[in-house]
Amino acid sequence: MEDKEILENLGKIEIREGKERTIKSYVLRNNILEDKEKENVVKYMPKYGLFFKDEMLSYSDIFQNNNPTIIEIGFGNGETTAKMALIKPEYNYIGLEVYLKGFVQLLKTLGENDIDNVRVMRFNAVDVLEHMIPDNSIEGFHIFFPDPWPKKKHHKRRIMNPEFLHLLATKLKKGGYIYMVTDWQEYADEVLELVKGEPLLMNPFYTFAPPVTWRPLTKFEQKGMDKDYVINEIWFEKKK
Ligand SMILES: C[S@@+](CC[C@H](N)C(=O)[O-])C[C@H]1O[C@@H](n2cnc3c(N)ncnc32)[C@H](O)[C@@H]1O
Repeated sequence: MEDKEILENLGKIEIREGKERTIKSYVLRNNILEDKEKENVVKYMPKYGLFFKDEMLSYSDIFQNNNPTIIEIGFGNGETTAKMALIKPEYNYIGLEVYLKGFVQLLKTLGENDIDNVRVMRFNAVDVLEHMIPDNSIEGFHIFFPDPWPKKKHHKRRIMNPEFLHLLATKLKKGGYIYMVTDWQEYADEVLELVKGEPLLMNPFYTFAPPVTWRPLTKFEQKGMDKDYVINEIWFEKKK
């Protein structure tokens, strides 16, 4: 792909646009890349970037191995993603994020540290899961500090809702997990209840999960901690 084409393709981030647009779980801010960021895009997209295509992915083609694959939804600037990929190299990671500057930041981190087991896509996670992820194929989903949409009239924008939870569940392998962390208590309580309505999933902890040792601190987690918010961990598994 030509450099110009790479940059143009990065601009389309969802299938439905205009009137057809689905409820969005994100807002886009600061979309303009500086020259240095553009350089990183053309340098690192060929190795690390995936583009949306209405076709199921083959993880063994992408990663050239048969390791289990984890998808991270909304990785922000990807600092945590890169650290986790280094801590647990026995997994493949696909990171999905629409925030352009954060996306390019992770591309750069991956390239500069020559991290092999991560690929990234700048596209709406709902579309990617529906069109590119085979059912029963994913080891785990990571959703760290999803936008809480605190105002009641915006709750419908929350990415974790019954339909999305069901979509995640269908994509998981049996025994696979969904790991969400949030500092927004009322969102955490709401998601904890959702599992009761999803027959494919169970909560092995019945309530919030104990923190895992291998999750590095995220940028938004630090912001929550600075405000003394409680961090709640949620861990669901697909029934075997
Ligand atoms: C509050 S930030 C958290 C970032 C990071 N996980 C952290 O903890 O620092 C939530 C991120 O989710 C992304 N996001 C929200 N909805 C998304 C969607 N449908 N597809 C891809 N990314 C999404 C947003 O762009 C935003 O960067």
